[in-house]
Amino acid sequence: MAHGHKSDEKIVYVGDSRVRAKSSRLPQPDFSAYPGKSEVFIPNFLLKEWMVAVVVLVGILCLVMSEAAPLGYPADPTNTQFIPMPDWYFLFLYQLLKYPYTSDKFVVFGTVIVPAIMFGGLMVAPFLDTGKERRFYKRPITSALMMLTLIACTYLTVVSWTHYEHELKDKNIIPEHIKREQEMHAGKGDGGGGAAKKPAAAASIVAADDPAAELYKKATCVSCHGGDLKGMPSSGIPALRGVGDKHSQDEIMNIIKKGQGNMAAQYDDNIKKGLTDADITKLAEWLAKQKKE
Ligand code: HEC
Repeated sequence: MAHGHKSDEKIVYVGDSRVRAKSSRLPQPDFSAYPGKSEVFIPNFLLKEWMVAVVVLVGILCLVMSEAAPLGYPADPTNTQFIPMPDWYFLFLYQLLKYPYTSDKFVVFGTVIVPAIMFGGLMVAPFLDTGKERRFYKRPITSALMMLTLIACTYLTVVSWTHYEHELKDKNIIPEHIKREQEMHAGKGDGGGGAAKKPAAAASIVAADDPAAELYKKATCVSCHGGDLKGMPSSGIPALRGVGDKHSQDEIMNIIKKGQGNMAAQYDDNIKKGLTDADITKLAEWLAKQKKE
């Protein structure tokens, strides 16, 4: 039959190019379809990546150099006032180990099993949670687990931190990094330009070549107050530099003989060590000379 002009024939489309066929897979694009828009990985792409990396590294370098790292004091094993604490992001694990059912007999539970469940759970999550749904309120189990974990971590961190602060207050401890910072500010307040690096206690040893200085090194004093007379302020042992401003020779002699506060009497021990009474008197005399100018 020929096609007439006034045909009432129905037009039937075979397929519709305006509607995409549904397919579960996206068509793999062929890069030859984008001339000039693709590039080779080596060396072009890699070179670009490296350049970005260098800029980032230089940025970090500038930050590192402009702000000195907040170092604490050198480690001091005799310092009983130091409370070891993990970094803040591990506080929750640290706190977890304080509970009775995760410590002592059950310590394996706290150190291995609970963390294994947590991290193992994260690892298998992509295989268990295979639903297509992306909205969190349509995935009650996954979302609930996540919320629960977040709440638990926050709670444990806060509890651990408050406990730490209470302990500091109870024992009257100022943490080292804060002490260090205070010293730095005190040093700056003195007006010295580069004083930030020097500790504030600036008294020097008077008459360091006096024979009594050798006696001091033989005496018991050195084991606590240190060869440099700086003591260990962080452990409550005062410096003996500048002690002459505080105590006279007689008073120092008295402290050696009778002790003071946390320092036991030292006289007998030093006689046992081979010092004579005259030596100890000389020592006290020398210490009384330790004054700031
Ligand atoms: C076992 C550690 C120890 C030894 C050893 C020791 N001291 Fe002390 N000394 C201390 C402590 C701790 C204090 C702080 C006491 C206090 O007031 O609570 C102190 C305080 C002092 C003070 C007073 C300082 C001040 O600022 O009030 C003097 C002086 C002193 N010692 C001298 C000596 C002499 C001299 C010797 C050696 C013969 C000596 N000490 C040995 C631990 C020691």
